[in-house]
Amino acid sequence: MPNSRKPLVVVTRRLPDVVETRMRELFDARLNVDDKPMSKVELIEAVETAEVLVPTVTDKIDRAVLSQAGDQLKLIANFGTGVDNIDLDTARNRSIIVTNTPGVLTEDTADMTMALILAVPRRLAEGTAYLKDNSQEWGGWSPTWMLGHRIYGKRLGIIGMGRIGSAVARRAKAFGLQIHYHNRRRVSEDLEQELDATFWDSLDQMLARMDIISVNCPHTPATYHLLSARRLKLLKPTAYVVNTARGEVIDENELARLIQSEAIAGAGLDVFEHEPAVNPRLLASKRVVALPHMGSATIEGRIDMGEKVIINIKTFLDGHAPPDRVFPAMF
Ligand code: 8YV
Repeated sequence: MPNSRKPLVVVTRRLPDVVETRMRELFDARLNVDDKPMSKVELIEAVETAEVLVPTVTDKIDRAVLSQAGDQLKLIANFGTGVDNIDLDTARNRSIIVTNTPGVLTEDTADMTMALILAVPRRLAEGTAYLKDNSQEWGGWSPTWMLGHRIYGKRLGIIGMGRIGSAVARRAKAFGLQIHYHNRRRVSEDLEQELDATFWDSLDQMLARMDIISVNCPHTPATYHLLSARRLKLLKPTAYVVNTARGEVIDENELARLIQSEAIAGAGLDVFEHEPAVNPRLLASKRVVALPHMGSATIEGRIDMGEKVIINIKTFLDGHAPPDRVFPAMF
Protein backbone atom coordinates (compact mmCIF):
# COMPACT_ATOMS: atom_id res chain seq x y z
CA MET A 1 0.00 0.00 0.00
CA PRO A 2 1.65 3.31 -1.03
CA ASN A 3 2.37 5.72 1.82
CA SER A 4 1.99 8.86 -0.32
CA ARG A 5 -1.81 8.88 -0.20
CA LYS A 6 -4.14 8.36 2.67
CA PRO A 7 -5.72 4.91 2.81
CA LEU A 8 -9.49 4.58 2.97
CA VAL A 9 -10.49 3.52 6.48
CA VAL A 10 -14.18 2.83 7.05
CA VAL A 11 -15.29 3.11 10.68
CA THR A 12 -18.69 1.53 11.29
CA ARG A 13 -19.73 3.40 14.47
CA ARG A 14 -19.17 6.78 16.02
CA LEU A 15 -16.00 6.88 18.17
CA PRO A 16 -14.86 9.44 20.79
CA ASP A 17 -14.07 12.84 19.19
CA VAL A 18 -10.32 12.71 19.84
CA VAL A 19 -10.12 9.32 18.17
CA GLU A 20 -12.08 10.45 15.12
CA THR A 21 -10.02 13.65 14.82
CA ARG A 22 -6.77 11.67 14.83
CA MET A 23 -8.18 9.21 12.32
CA ARG A 24 -9.11 12.10 10.00
CA GLU A 25 -5.56 13.43 10.23
CA LEU A 26 -3.95 10.09 9.46
CA PHE A 27 -6.36 8.40 7.09
CA ASP A 28 -9.04 9.02 4.50
CA ALA A 29 -11.45 8.15 7.30
CA ARG A 30 -15.08 7.48 6.46
CA LEU A 31 -16.86 8.01 9.76
CA ASN A 32 -20.38 7.20 10.90
CA VAL A 33 -21.48 10.55 12.33
CA ASP A 34 -25.08 9.38 12.92
CA ASP A 35 -23.87 6.26 14.77
CA LYS A 36 -26.62 4.20 13.15
CA PRO A 37 -25.56 0.51 13.01
CA MET A 38 -24.74 -0.46 9.44
CA SER A 39 -26.99 -2.87 7.55
CA LYS A 40 -25.57 -5.93 5.83
CA VAL A 41 -25.77 -4.09 2.51
CA GLU A 42 -23.82 -1.15 3.94
CA LEU A 43 -21.21 -3.48 5.40
CA ILE A 44 -20.80 -5.16 2.02
CA GLU A 45 -20.41 -1.75 0.37
CA ALA A 46 -17.77 -0.93 2.97
CA VAL A 47 -15.66 -4.05 2.38
CA GLU A 48 -15.90 -3.56 -1.39
CA THR A 49 -14.03 -0.26 -1.14
CA ALA A 50 -12.21 0.04 2.21
CA GLU A 51 -8.55 -0.73 2.64
CA VAL A 52 -9.10 -0.98 6.37
CA LEU A 53 -12.39 -1.72 8.12
CA VAL A 54 -12.94 -0.73 11.76
CA PRO A 55 -16.01 -2.66 12.98
CA THR A 56 -17.43 -3.17 16.48
CA VAL A 57 -19.39 -5.84 18.28
CA THR A 58 -22.58 -4.67 16.54
CA ASP A 59 -21.28 -5.54 13.05
CA LYS A 60 -21.48 -9.13 11.89
CA ILE A 61 -18.49 -9.52 9.58
CA ASP A 62 -19.42 -13.02 8.49
CA ARG A 63 -18.65 -15.13 5.46
CA ALA A 64 -21.40 -13.46 3.41
CA VAL A 65 -19.86 -10.03 4.02
CA LEU A 66 -16.25 -11.13 3.66
CA SER A 67 -16.92 -12.99 0.42
CA GLN A 68 -17.78 -9.62 -1.13
CA ALA A 69 -14.55 -7.96 0.05
CA GLY A 70 -12.41 -6.44 -2.65
CA ASP A 71 -8.69 -7.27 -2.92
CA GLN A 72 -7.91 -3.84 -1.46
CA LEU A 73 -9.24 -4.86 1.99
CA LYS A 74 -6.16 -5.93 3.90
CA LEU A 75 -6.96 -5.22 7.54
CA ILE A 76 -9.93 -5.45 9.88
CA ALA A 77 -8.98 -3.45 12.99
CA ASN A 78 -11.77 -4.37 15.39
CA PHE A 79 -12.77 -1.73 17.96
CA GLY A 80 -13.16 -4.24 20.77
CA THR A 81 -11.40 -7.18 22.37
CA GLY A 82 -13.92 -9.88 21.53
CA VAL A 83 -13.72 -10.86 17.86
CA ASP A 84 -16.73 -13.19 17.76
CA ASN A 85 -18.36 -10.68 15.40
CA ILE A 86 -15.79 -11.60 12.74
CA ASP A 87 -15.42 -14.86 10.81
CA LEU A 88 -11.69 -15.29 11.48
CA ASP A 89 -11.29 -18.37 9.28
CA THR A 90 -12.75 -16.68 6.22
CA ALA A 91 -10.66 -13.57 6.90
CA ARG A 92 -7.50 -15.70 7.06
CA ASN A 93 -8.41 -17.57 3.88
CA ARG A 94 -8.78 -14.23 2.13
CA SER A 95 -5.45 -12.98 3.58
CA ILE A 96 -7.17 -10.28 5.59
CA ILE A 97 -5.40 -9.51 8.88
CA VAL A 98 -7.57 -9.03 11.97
CA THR A 99 -6.59 -7.07 15.09
CA ASN A 100 -8.36 -6.30 18.38
CA THR A 101 -7.90 -4.07 21.45
CA PRO A 102 -6.82 -6.26 24.38
CA GLY A 103 -5.73 -4.96 27.78
CA VAL A 104 -7.14 -1.45 27.75
CA LEU A 105 -10.63 -2.44 28.88
CA THR A 106 -9.57 -5.00 31.45
CA GLU A 107 -9.89 -2.84 34.57
CA ASP A 108 -13.16 -1.19 33.53
CA THR A 109 -14.77 -4.53 32.72
CA ALA A 110 -13.48 -6.05 35.96
CA ASP A 111 -14.93 -3.08 37.90
CA MET A 112 -18.32 -3.63 36.29
CA THR A 113 -18.14 -7.34 37.06
CA MET A 114 -17.36 -6.59 40.70
CA ALA A 115 -20.19 -4.08 40.80
CA LEU A 116 -22.60 -6.81 39.66
CA ILE A 117 -21.13 -9.34 42.11
CA LEU A 118 -21.90 -6.86 44.89
CA ALA A 119 -25.20 -5.55 43.54
CA VAL A 120 -27.11 -8.74 42.90
CA PRO A 121 -26.86 -10.60 46.24
CA ARG A 122 -27.44 -7.32 48.11
CA ARG A 123 -30.56 -6.50 46.03
CA LEU A 124 -29.42 -3.01 45.02
CA ALA A 125 -31.65 -2.79 41.95
CA GLU A 126 -34.66 -3.98 43.90
CA GLY A 127 -34.05 -1.51 46.72
CA THR A 128 -33.63 1.42 44.33
CA ALA A 129 -36.74 0.46 42.35
CA TYR A 130 -38.75 0.15 45.56
CA LEU A 131 -37.75 3.59 46.82
CA LYS A 132 -38.39 5.28 43.48
CA ASP A 133 -41.83 3.70 43.16
CA ASN A 134 -42.92 3.89 46.81
CA SER A 135 -41.11 6.81 48.42
CA GLN A 136 -44.33 8.00 50.11
CA GLU A 137 -45.32 4.56 51.45
CA TRP A 138 -41.93 3.49 52.77
CA GLY A 139 -42.36 2.82 56.46
CA GLY A 140 -38.66 3.11 57.29
CA TRP A 141 -36.03 0.63 58.38
CA SER A 142 -37.01 -2.87 59.45
CA PRO A 143 -34.77 -5.64 60.79
CA THR A 144 -36.18 -8.32 58.50
CA TRP A 145 -36.78 -6.43 55.30
CA MET A 146 -34.82 -6.50 51.99
CA LEU A 147 -32.36 -9.02 53.32
CA GLY A 148 -29.77 -10.09 50.81
CA HIS A 149 -26.78 -12.38 51.16
CA ARG A 150 -23.31 -11.75 52.53
CA ILE A 151 -20.46 -11.62 50.00
CA TYR A 152 -17.57 -11.98 52.45
CA GLY A 153 -16.31 -15.55 52.69
CA LYS A 154 -18.41 -16.86 49.81
CA ARG A 155 -17.05 -18.88 46.90
CA LEU A 156 -16.62 -17.16 43.56
CA GLY A 157 -16.15 -19.40 40.52
CA ILE A 158 -14.55 -17.58 37.61
CA ILE A 159 -14.95 -19.13 34.17
CA GLY A 160 -12.02 -17.90 32.07
CA MET A 161 -8.93 -16.77 33.99
CA GLY A 162 -7.46 -14.46 31.37
CA ARG A 163 -6.75 -10.76 31.84
CA ILE A 164 -10.29 -9.83 32.89
CA GLY A 165 -10.85 -12.97 34.97
CA SER A 166 -7.63 -12.30 36.91
CA ALA A 167 -8.56 -8.64 37.42
CA VAL A 168 -11.95 -9.74 38.78
CA ALA A 169 -10.20 -12.23 41.10
CA ARG A 170 -7.91 -9.47 42.48
CA ARG A 171 -10.91 -7.32 43.35
CA ALA A 172 -12.97 -10.21 44.71
CA LYS A 173 -10.13 -11.39 46.93
CA ALA A 174 -9.99 -7.93 48.49
CA PHE A 175 -13.71 -8.28 49.27
CA GLY A 176 -13.03 -11.54 51.13
CA LEU A 177 -14.35 -13.93 48.49
CA GLN A 178 -12.70 -17.32 48.01
CA ILE A 179 -11.41 -17.54 44.45
CA HIS A 180 -12.04 -20.63 42.33
CA TYR A 181 -11.63 -20.87 38.59
CA HIS A 182 -12.03 -23.01 35.52
CA ASN A 183 -9.88 -22.30 32.49
CA ARG A 184 -8.68 -24.16 29.42
CA ARG A 185 -5.23 -24.19 30.99
CA ARG A 186 -4.21 -23.91 34.60
CA VAL A 187 -2.58 -20.48 35.20
CA SER A 188 0.95 -20.10 36.60
CA GLU A 189 1.68 -21.06 40.18
CA ASP A 190 2.66 -17.45 40.90
CA LEU A 191 -0.71 -16.14 39.74
CA GLU A 192 -2.59 -18.86 41.63
CA GLN A 193 -0.70 -17.91 44.78
CA GLU A 194 -1.26 -14.18 44.29
CA LEU A 195 -5.00 -14.75 43.88
CA ASP A 196 -5.30 -17.62 46.38
CA ALA A 197 -7.09 -19.32 43.52
CA THR A 198 -8.21 -22.95 43.32
CA PHE A 199 -8.22 -24.53 39.86
CA TRP A 200 -11.07 -26.82 38.83
CA ASP A 201 -10.37 -29.02 35.85
CA SER A 202 -14.01 -30.05 35.86
CA LEU A 203 -16.37 -27.15 35.21
CA ASP A 204 -19.31 -29.32 36.30
CA GLN A 205 -17.80 -29.95 39.71
CA MET A 206 -16.94 -26.30 40.22
CA LEU A 207 -20.42 -25.12 39.26
CA ALA A 208 -22.08 -27.36 41.84
CA ARG A 209 -20.08 -25.83 44.69
CA MET A 210 -20.01 -22.08 43.99
CA ASP A 211 -22.05 -19.24 45.50
CA ILE A 212 -21.38 -16.86 42.61
CA ILE A 213 -20.30 -17.65 39.05
CA SER A 214 -18.60 -15.01 36.92
CA VAL A 215 -18.31 -15.59 33.18
CA ASN A 216 -15.10 -14.02 31.84
CA CYS A 217 -14.19 -16.16 28.83
CA PRO A 218 -14.49 -15.14 25.18
CA HIS A 219 -17.35 -16.41 23.02
CA THR A 220 -15.98 -18.99 20.60
CA PRO A 221 -17.48 -22.11 19.01
CA ALA A 222 -16.09 -24.01 22.03
CA THR A 223 -17.71 -21.73 24.64
CA TYR A 224 -21.11 -21.30 22.95
CA HIS A 225 -23.66 -22.32 25.64
CA LEU A 226 -20.83 -23.46 27.90
CA LEU A 227 -23.39 -22.81 30.63
CA SER A 228 -25.90 -25.12 28.97
CA ALA A 229 -29.28 -26.13 30.38
CA ARG A 230 -27.65 -29.22 31.89
CA ARG A 231 -24.83 -27.25 33.53
CA LEU A 232 -27.08 -24.45 34.82
CA LYS A 233 -29.05 -27.12 36.66
CA LEU A 234 -25.88 -28.06 38.56
CA LEU A 235 -25.85 -24.67 40.31
CA LYS A 236 -27.03 -24.39 43.91
CA PRO A 237 -30.46 -22.71 44.29
CA THR A 238 -28.68 -20.00 46.31
CA ALA A 239 -26.15 -19.29 43.52
CA TYR A 240 -25.90 -16.11 41.45
CA VAL A 241 -24.61 -15.82 37.87
CA VAL A 242 -22.73 -12.77 36.62
CA ASN A 243 -21.88 -12.30 32.95
CA THR A 244 -19.88 -9.40 31.51
CA ALA A 245 -18.34 -11.47 28.67
CA ARG A 246 -20.77 -12.56 25.96
CA GLY A 247 -24.40 -13.60 26.21
CA GLU A 248 -23.86 -16.57 23.92
CA VAL A 249 -21.81 -18.35 26.59
CA ILE A 250 -25.03 -18.96 28.59
CA ASP A 251 -28.25 -20.62 27.47
CA GLU A 252 -30.20 -17.45 28.22
CA ASN A 253 -33.65 -18.96 27.93
CA GLU A 254 -32.80 -21.64 30.44
CA LEU A 255 -31.18 -19.10 32.78
CA ALA A 256 -34.36 -17.01 32.71
CA ARG A 257 -36.48 -20.09 33.36
CA LEU A 258 -34.36 -21.26 36.29
CA ILE A 259 -34.36 -17.80 37.89
CA GLN A 260 -38.13 -17.58 37.49
CA SER A 261 -38.61 -20.99 39.12
CA GLU A 262 -36.16 -20.02 41.90
CA ALA A 263 -33.77 -22.82 40.99
CA ILE A 264 -31.07 -20.09 40.73
CA ALA A 265 -31.04 -17.08 43.09
CA GLY A 266 -30.41 -14.34 40.54
CA ALA A 267 -28.13 -12.86 37.90
CA GLY A 268 -26.14 -9.76 37.01
CA LEU A 269 -26.01 -9.48 33.26
CA ASP A 270 -24.22 -6.93 31.11
CA VAL A 271 -24.48 -8.99 27.92
CA PHE A 272 -27.24 -10.99 26.26
CA GLU A 273 -27.49 -13.85 23.83
CA HIS A 274 -29.43 -11.98 21.15
CA GLU A 275 -28.32 -8.35 21.63
CA PRO A 276 -29.89 -5.86 21.38
CA ALA A 277 -32.89 -8.07 22.24
CA VAL A 278 -33.13 -8.95 25.92
CA ASN A 279 -35.18 -11.85 27.20
CA PRO A 280 -38.30 -10.21 28.73
CA ARG A 281 -38.38 -12.75 31.56
CA LEU A 282 -34.95 -11.55 32.69
CA LEU A 283 -36.06 -7.93 32.58
CA ALA A 284 -39.21 -8.73 34.54
CA SER A 285 -37.32 -10.48 37.33
CA LYS A 286 -36.52 -8.52 40.49
CA ARG A 287 -33.59 -10.83 41.03
CA VAL A 288 -31.81 -9.76 37.85
CA VAL A 289 -29.65 -6.67 37.41
CA ALA A 290 -29.48 -6.01 33.67
CA LEU A 291 -27.19 -3.51 31.94
CA PRO A 292 -27.00 -2.64 28.24
CA HIS A 293 -23.45 -3.93 27.49
CA MET A 294 -21.65 -1.23 29.50
CA GLY A 295 -18.64 -3.20 30.79
CA SER A 296 -16.03 -1.10 28.99
CA ALA A 297 -18.15 2.05 28.75
CA THR A 298 -15.80 4.64 30.22
CA ILE A 299 -14.55 7.58 28.20
CA GLU A 300 -10.98 6.66 29.14
CA GLY A 301 -11.47 3.07 28.03
CA ARG A 302 -13.04 3.99 24.71
CA ILE A 303 -10.26 6.49 23.93
CA ASP A 304 -7.62 3.87 24.77
CA MET A 305 -9.43 1.38 22.51
CA GLY A 306 -9.41 3.94 19.70
CA GLU A 307 -5.72 4.58 20.29
CA LYS A 308 -5.05 0.85 19.96
CA VAL A 309 -7.04 0.67 16.74
CA ILE A 310 -5.00 3.58 15.30
CA ILE A 311 -1.69 1.97 16.35
CA ASN A 312 -2.73 -1.32 14.74
CA ILE A 313 -3.67 0.41 11.48
CA LYS A 314 -0.61 2.68 11.41
CA THR A 315 1.84 -0.13 12.17
CA PHE A 316 0.28 -2.28 9.48
CA LEU A 317 0.33 0.51 6.88
CA ASP A 318 3.98 1.18 7.72
CA GLY A 319 4.75 -2.41 6.77
CA HIS A 320 5.12 -3.91 10.25
CA ALA A 321 3.20 -6.61 12.09
CA PRO A 322 0.36 -4.91 13.99
CA PRO A 323 0.75 -5.49 17.75
CA ASP A 324 -2.71 -6.93 18.37
CA ARG A 325 -3.07 -9.37 15.52
CA VAL A 326 -5.46 -12.24 16.25
CA PHE A 327 -5.38 -15.72 14.73
CA PRO A 328 -8.23 -18.25 14.66
CA ALA A 329 -6.14 -20.64 16.79
CA MET A 330 -6.07 -18.11 19.65
CA PHE A 331 -9.79 -18.62 20.22
C1 8YV B 1 -16.84 -3.41 23.72
C2 8YV B 1 -16.50 -5.77 24.53
O1 8YV B 1 -17.43 -2.24 24.09
O2 8YV B 1 -14.36 -5.30 23.66
C3 8YV B 1 -15.22 -6.13 23.86
O3 8YV B 1 -15.06 -7.32 23.53
O4 8YV B 1 -17.20 -6.62 24.90
C4 8YV B 1 -17.02 -4.42 24.80
O5 8YV B 1 -16.62 -4.02 26.04
C5 8YV B 1 -17.40 -3.83 22.40
O6 8YV B 1 -17.20 -5.15 22.12
C6 8YV B 1 -16.85 -2.98 21.29
O7 8YV B 1 -16.86 -3.62 20.05
